[in-house]
Amino acid sequence: MRQPLIAGNWKMNGTRASAEALIQGVIAGSTGMNQADIAVCVPFVFLELSQRLLSGASIHLGAQNVCTEASGAYTGEISATMLNEFGCRYVICGHSERRDYYGETDVIVAKKLAMVMSAGMTPILCVGETLEQREQGFMETVIARQIDAIIAANGIASFAQLEIAYEPVWAIGTGKTATPEQAQEVHAFIRTRLSERDAAIGATVRILYGGSMKPSNAAELLAMPDIDGGLIGGASLVADDFLAICQAG
Ligand code: G3H
Repeated sequence: MRQPLIAGNWKMNGTRASAEALIQGVIAGSTGMNQADIAVCVPFVFLELSQRLLSGASIHLGAQNVCTEASGAYTGEISATMLNEFGCRYVICGHSERRDYYGETDVIVAKKLAMVMSAGMTPILCVGETLEQREQGFMETVIARQIDAIIAANGIASFAQLEIAYEPVWAIGTGKTATPEQAQEVHAFIRTRLSERDAAIGATVRILYGGSMKPSNAAELLAMPDIDGGLIGGASLVADDFLAICQAG
């Protein structure tokens, strides 16, 4: 039985004041809720504030990116050790926006995962195909490449220490959600691919869905057998919407 994880990805949104109000709203509304693990992945500059507000709450803190290197002359970068010091439990790695806008390759994503795990945190590995790739029939090829690159670099055992988020690029921030059946098909494909290497890892790894998940569609997506939670963008910026998704988990 895999406990669902609902993780908010705030992306580059909010002010100090709105971040504080949002965290307080999520804490207040989630008290007593125990169906799902809950996390909020906030912009770096809100980590200290969030760590302080979340102290004593059962909501986990996460970051959205990390440097591939441990320390040194990497202007503008943030290390895994720094994130760990600020109370992060999760770090999103390889989000499609990072792959697309900042040129993150599978090799870079694998290095980031390794840094996060060596600092004792849990990466959320994002994978997903574009609309063009799906329409040309390359969905499985793309997902397999993204998963296999991590196995090749970090070993199958690394999947015992991470979460996966399947995020079809065409569903991110578009309001277009994969149908539960479309999402389930890809989640099952990922699980089978991992199970072929290691049955126990395939059975236990959590695979979250991300891409316009909202209160109105969360329950049907989360009811699918291989969907173990959600990585929520837009709807995580409104406390009531995020809480409704957590409730559905
Ligand atoms: O990380 C979250 C995903 O990119 C989904 O974003 O819920 O705004 O579509 P969205």
